[in-house]
Amino acid sequence: MKINMDIIKCKDEDEIGRRAASLVAETIHREPHCILGLATGSTPVGMYKNLVKLYEQGTLDFSKVRSFNLDEYYPIQPEDPQSYRYFMNENLFDHINIDPANTYVPHGNSENPEMVCEAYDLMIQAAGGIDLQVLGIGNNGHIAFNEPSDHFPAGTHVVDLQESTIKANARFFDSEQDVPRQAISMGIGSILRAKRIILLASGEAKAEAVKACIEGPITPLCPASALQLHPDVTVFVDEAAAKLLSK
Ligand code: PGA
Repeated sequence: MKINMDIIKCKDEDEIGRRAASLVAETIHREPHCILGLATGSTPVGMYKNLVKLYEQGTLDFSKVRSFNLDEYYPIQPEDPQSYRYFMNENLFDHINIDPANTYVPHGNSENPEMVCEAYDLMIQAAGGIDLQVLGIGNNGHIAFNEPSDHFPAGTHVVDLQESTIKANARFFDSEQDVPRQAISMGIGSILRAKRIILLASGEAKAEAVKACIEGPITPLCPASALQLHPDVTVFVDEAAAKLLSK
């Protein structure tokens, strides 16, 4: 079978973090005004640590970079430690010289989330589109909060979280009941418009989703399989997440 994604097999999560960070750093060196699409979750944490290190070493300048995050819970306040805005501040923005006004995370506390969604896609477009989009992948093949369903959502939209995602994310909350039941998420269409995409996956729990994403049929039952339609995707996987791949 022809695989048109670039697969980079790494020993472990540490190596994924290092190599993904150098790819992001190269992008910023090449285009200091670049637009990054950023992701939350445990997988990109190592990449963010390495980016902070490069900034501290004086080799990386974020002063002209703008960023758009994939998603945010709804409803949630930005200062809530479980919000993705808080996560991004803690893991990256507070430790580098990016202008906070140039960091966008969907507003999870608006009374009109549909309007937030519409405005978000327009803002990305007005900024010139995402140059490099970073993605994680859910155990069920979701990317951002695009859950398995009967269609690929086009633009940023309000999502009802699936039971499996609520359970998977409950580890970050005091209890499963505290996980918000909705989210605002970029659509598959929004993601595919990025010029370049990198997907990070580590651990055995991701092995089936990684296989379905790369080698399975293109189907909204595995939202990540839509990435096969994109001409420039690089997947960083560790040995455990790659173990079901045919090559
Ligand atoms: P994780 O989440 O990095 O915490 O495993 C990835 C995702 O659900 O997209």
